[in-house]
Amino acid sequence: MSSPAPKTAILCSGGGSNMEAVVKACKNKDLDLNIELVISNKPEAACLIKAHNLGIQTQVLPNKESERNDTLLKILSDRGIELVLLAGFLKKLSSELVSQFSNRILNIHPSLLPKYGGPGMYGLRVHQAVYNAKEEESGATVHIVTEEFDQGPIILQSKTQLDPSDSPEIIAKKVLVLEHKLYTEAINKYLKEIYPNVQHPSS
Ligand code: GRF
Repeated sequence: MSSPAPKTAILCSGGGSNMEAVVKACKNKDLDLNIELVISNKPEAACLIKAHNLGIQTQVLPNKESERNDTLLKILSDRGIELVLLAGFLKKLSSELVSQFSNRILNIHPSLLPKYGGPGMYGLRVHQAVYNAKEEESGATVHIVTEEFDQGPIILQSKTQLDPSDSPEIIAKKVLVLEHKLYTEAINKYLKEIYPNVQHPSS
């Protein structure tokens, strides 16, 4: 018998297109997750409206770092969350959270890590750096979150060829299209190969 779908929270700060793609994949039965809620640090973020329209509960975190970290831990524990997906979440997670959810937090990053990752590398900055370096290809990476920014074990990557005339904005669009497919594929790989062997938060 297959194990029940992990109770999952998705954390996002912006547009929420990756969150939407993951929720839709679950609705289409391409992915077996129980999406309990979407959490954002930004009350005005479009991801909250998208989540609401998809019928997913939402929560907003306090602005102050210590309160935000405590609130997040409490929400995850109260809701019995087993898996956390970062989808454009722009705040650093506390060490306590990363250790409590060891191997159970995934992130999607819009570059071919280890290139163009690390602190300060988010949003258009990533694509600007790729453009400045005249890269012939870029892509996206799904990885397990560890204490070191964007350095956790890679689950899956997807690549796209770049044209010398591609602006950073065009590169961002090309990569985002890849991301929407990649996150679902990577989560499926993770659920099959890694998740069965990771420790449950309450054990
Ligand atoms: C994506 O490029 C993702 O890789 C990065 O932040 C962006 C979020 O986009 N971490 P969206 O909010 O999912 O539309």
